Amino acid sequence: MSDTVPVPARVREGSVSPIQDLNDWRRAWLQARNDPDGFWLEQARALRWRRLPSEGLVGGYDTVREGPFSWFHDGILNVTESCVDRHAEATPDKVAILWEGDAPGEVRRITYAELSAMVNRCANALARLGLKKGERAILYMGMVPEAAVAMLACARLGAVHSVVFGGFSAEALRDRVRDCGAELVITQDEGRRGGRSVPLKAVTDAALEGEHGVKKVLVFRRTGAKVGWTAHRDVWWHEVVDAASPEHEAVACGAEDPLFILYTSGSTGRPKGLVHTCGGYLTYASYTHRVVFDLRPDDVYACLADVGWITGHSYIVYGPLANGATTLMFESTPLYPDAGRYWDVVERHKVTIFYTAPTAIRALAAQGDDFVTRHDRSSLRVLGTVGEPINPDAWRWYFDVVGEGRCNIVDTWWQTETGGILIAPIAPATPTRPGSATLPLPGVRPQLLDPDGRELRGPSQGLLCIAEPWPGQARTVWGDHARYVATYYAMFPGRYFTGDGCLRDADGYHWITGRVDDVLNVSGHRMGTAEFESALVGIEEIAEAAVVGYPHPVKGQGVFAWLVLQEGEECSQALLQRCQTTLRVRIGAHARVDRFQVVPGLPKTRSGKVMRRILRKLAEGRGDELGDVSTLADAEVVSAILSAISGDSCE
Ligand code: WT7
Repeated sequence: MSDTVPVPARVREGSVSPIQDLNDWRRAWLQARNDPDGFWLEQARALRWRRLPSEGLVGGYDTVREGPFSWFHDGILNVTESCVDRHAEATPDKVAILWEGDAPGEVRRITYAELSAMVNRCANALARLGLKKGERAILYMGMVPEAAVAMLACARLGAVHSVVFGGFSAEALRDRVRDCGAELVITQDEGRRGGRSVPLKAVTDAALEGEHGVKKVLVFRRTGAKVGWTAHRDVWWHEVVDAASPEHEAVACGAEDPLFILYTSGSTGRPKGLVHTCGGYLTYASYTHRVVFDLRPDDVYACLADVGWITGHSYIVYGPLANGATTLMFESTPLYPDAGRYWDVVERHKVTIFYTAPTAIRALAAQGDDFVTRHDRSSLRVLGTVGEPINPDAWRWYFDVVGEGRCNIVDTWWQTETGGILIAPIAPATPTRPGSATLPLPGVRPQLLDPDGRELRGPSQGLLCIAEPWPGQARTVWGDHARYVATYYAMFPGRYFTGDGCLRDADGYHWITGRVDDVLNVSGHRMGTAEFESALVGIEEIAEAAVVGYPHPVKGQGVFAWLVLQEGEECSQALLQRCQTTLRVRIGAHARVDRFQVVPGLPKTRSGKVMRRILRKLAEGRGDELGDVSTLADAEVVSAILSAISGDSCE
């Protein structure tokens, strides 16, 4: 194929990866397929275990209704011994966490020896605050090293952490605290981002008002701002953590014990808490991080995500630390103080592997090349992307301008549910194609299905499923296994349904086409249309709301809200403003509607289901391609919508 980009020489040079080309990839993939247990037990040996597991997968998709499948069930470990202790022994002076604060050049370098002491102190402090194995702690923090330390300290106690992204509102935070029954919340006085303060403690206080389940709130001091204080509940980090002993005996955990819960959006108004395990998850995060990026001992690895999302868990904290890497944590934004910030960071820290999201690449490309070229990027070797499909133009810019043609681009497809990367190039081995996530990693068996569940062979386009479990897969939804089964296994029994559409070309390369369900992906943030809708219909003047995504040049998807007002109500600027405020309060600042349209009614089937397909077409401005509308309960409604669109949207 003419648009295939060979692996640049710089990427292959010095690689000791066992997978050097597509023949190696094929061999590894077939080996994993023929003996998955043997393959994954071998990968599991990369971790430090108290007792090595003797079994791989038990159960599977066929029996998932009866209960979760397991990996390595007889293994015993504490993940922090793999992520911290063994490196503190072997490479104590190597930088584990390289922190770049919000202000350019505000840097902290935390070695593995220091990290070990910090994690142990924090674990001791958390134990004194009463946190026990199996109990849940919510983390509501910004991008400070202490967020990673707190995650690891929970893991050291066998407690289950759930990190809530610092942009979520008090209500969203409270929902998550309640859903997982958290005993403890860890937060900070304020976050810093793009020169501004984020009131993390104040939001925590609002979220916990009237909540009695949370016994203690541990507060890390980041800015020194004055914050509210609840006596007997709130505790300063610098008082209890810094004073604690740097020695701590890790709690032994079963491989299948939960390591963390991470909430993500689905097709209902209620977020679901995906449960990831100690042994399987860490094996998978470690393996994929090593193989995809071709990690080397002297790499300076930078993933520009937030620990509030799965990317931050797997590829800032757990994968890199399990591999003894130097992992960069970045507190700021790509545009602060200007659009050169990422490349300034690359230059000053000599970053070799750089991993970000397409939305950031598009936003930066729009600012012009000067911001990039004025910085030395010669240290870079591998450039990663994640979170949404990357359009070929943005891919080209990343490859040509940022990487100057010397770096491989690894477009990594995966999900909160998958724990780690499933489909992606292997840096030294896989020729790339702009816009394609390329090939499945060893141990991963993607399949394309038609809507009737028939498997499509050869080049085709269909619904992306995975045929067999892998160790990093989420085992259940916290407190609601039935929802886990219904969401992922009901549509195509015996397979995991990803919710994504995908095209597979003649060479077996995968091109993800985006979500086929009611999940939005806005600037790499996953949000459910139902979450928007339930917030909007809570507003008195609004009778009905339907939210759909539409293509947006920078954000990937924009949010289009269709509103039906109550009898006698009229649209006004004030009402639309109230919609935005309501969304900010109910969900968070990242939940904003880009376009509103008031209409007399929504297109529905005879059974009353809103036909989003039609609303999506209309939102894209393709009202002339509506296709079959014969199943509509009221065909008139479409012409009424069309005339409303041409009229006033009151925006
Ligand atoms: C959804 C998962 C994976 C960590 C960040 C997002 C989309 C993710 C890609 C990619 C095309 C992608 C999918 C997926 N997605 N990576 N490389 N190419 N689409 O995790 O919030 O769970 O969202 O993000 O639609 O289903 P998430």
